[in-house]
Amino acid sequence: MSRAYRVSFIEGDGIGPEIFASARSVLETISECHPNLNFDFIPTPAGDATLAKSGEALPRDSFIKISESDLCLKAPVGETARETIIKIRQDLDLFANIRPARNYDFIESKFSNVDLVIVRENTEDLYVGREFEEEDGRRATALKVTTEKASKRIAKMAFDTALSRAKTAPQKSPAVVCVQKSNVLPMTDGLFMKSCGSIAEGYPSVKYSTMYVDTAAMNLVRNPESFDVIVTSNVYGDILSDEASQIVGGLGVAGSANIGNEFALFEPVHGCAPDIAGKGIANPLSMIFAAKMMLEWLGMKRNDLNCISAAKLVDQAVSAVGGDRILTPDIGGNSSTLVVTKAICKNIKESKDGGEENYDYRGKNRMSAKNEATVTTTNKQDVLLKW
Ligand code: IPM
Ligand code: MN
Repeated sequence: MSRAYRVSFIEGDGIGPEIFASARSVLETISECHPNLNFDFIPTPAGDATLAKSGEALPRDSFIKISESDLCLKAPVGETARETIIKIRQDLDLFANIRPARNYDFIESKFSNVDLVIVRENTEDLYVGREFEEEDGRRATALKVTTEKASKRIAKMAFDTALSRAKTAPQKSPAVVCVQKSNVLPMTDGLFMKSCGSIAEGYPSVKYSTMYVDTAAMNLVRNPESFDVIVTSNVYGDILSDEASQIVGGLGVAGSANIGNEFALFEPVHGCAPDIAGKGIANPLSMIFAAKMMLEWLGMKRNDLNCISAAKLVDQAVSAVGGDRILTPDIGGNSSTLVVTKAICKNIKESKDGGEENYDYRGKNRMSAKNEATVTTTNKQDVLLKW
């Protein structure tokens, strides 16, 4: 079946437009290879530059177009993150922020078997933005909000993620660890932990444990291979996901998905890096991996196997190009954003030419099993992802 997905996009600030252009070329190359898979790109300006131009960081027209599209692909914005991404996450109820961290063959790391995913609650905690000033600004207070409803739904997402990861990589036993600080915050974090615990009862095949956030931060640098799925609240998830990305190569390779019931937004984990903007050296992989997660989500949500095979094409192309050391300086290469992007697009085209209809992504540029975003289909209704 031929599909054209409406992709609203935010080019953002700093390196945003450069890395967005990369991801867009990759998706356009995918469309050329898959005649039945098309993307209508809908510009939805937001961020610092938009604020300067229009007086609003997230103009109403952009917000409406985003909410009417199939999904949003977003590059990082600058100082207006609170008015843009935080607002979109909350207003569109994109309650789960999925942040994988996995070793890549082409990036040197102290570790070789890291394959974890952080499932970050995305709508509440300190991010509700309720702050008060007293005593003429000499005393300030922020509210941390935790609800049973949000905690249970993020826990459910984490357990489902653990199960689908285990089904697609049977050597892995599914495990969820609930990261919190209930020893100091027995009400808020206590509620989060209690809610996760009650969901855990419905998943007897998943190993469930709890860990304080300081211990988790330590274990992430000590033995990150021991983690499978981390479920945590908004602030801890924000911090731990930067840490986890560093363990496998840095923020330059970290993509993420903000998932709601019907809508999702995909973006790099990092900010807009104004210090390297315009130099042509920004790593496009975080944005390309965000686009890859977009394809996987579409594949799962719409049962569109073209999207699933497209995601695999992207994955194997990145791996092949990385294997040839065509990388940006942040991960040990000396290639520009453009050179990396062109090499990935070329690889996608060549791989597709070599296989056509029954293209086997395990073919000539097969990536190692540990890097492979495995997807299996048990039947038409059930596309499982390993995020
Ligand atoms: C992230 C970012 C945002 C966050 C910022 C830009 C508001 O750091 O997506 O992790 O804190 O969530
Ligand atoms: Mn962050």
